[in-house]
Amino acid sequence: MKTKIILAGLIVLAAVSTRAGDSVSSGGIPSKHANLMGPTHFTETDGEKLYATVCASCHMPNAMGGTGAGFYPALAKNDKLAVSSYPVMMVMNGRGPMPSFREAMSDAQIAAVVGYVRTHFGNSYTDPVSLDEVKQVREAK
Ligand code: HEC
Repeated sequence: MKTKIILAGLIVLAAVSTRAGDSVSSGGIPSKHANLMGPTHFTETDGEKLYATVCASCHMPNAMGGTGAGFYPALAKNDKLAVSSYPVMMVMNGRGPMPSFREAMSDAQIAAVVGYVRTHFGNSYTDPVSLDEVKQVREAK
């Protein structure tokens, strides 16, 4: 009788841990906002897709920013993007209400999304964002 109970317990435990394992390995992202809260890694590698998934919810799809529950600066026509290390640093470390994407994005993803923002929305800073630069910002903290 006791053995049966212990066995049943083990089966339940096994089922639970399998399920937990599944959700980690699938890399599934339940919702935009869950992304920002957890250590979920983004799967997009393309700057445009990363912008749409990660940045647009605050900076708006047209990068005009906005005010509402807070102030979100426009990234459109923003001359602070001229020196790439500034936006790289913002995405890597965050500042105030802007979250850090250090854990959620690889160096390549940060370079891609910053490169995208610097060459769209009325910005034309075409010098590429190098992986070396992103790496240096990552290690600087
Ligand atoms: C949760 C909302 C949120 C998300 C998501 C977000 N940001 Fe921000 N971002 C902000 C806020 C708020 C500020 C202003 C922070 C401050 O004033 O200190 C900001 C500031 C910035 C700045 C500095 C702008 C300036 O004029 O100084 C850059 C660059 C930037 N964000 C880029 C991005 C990029 C690229 C992404 C996507 C990878 C992103 N942000 C995602 C909220 C967000």
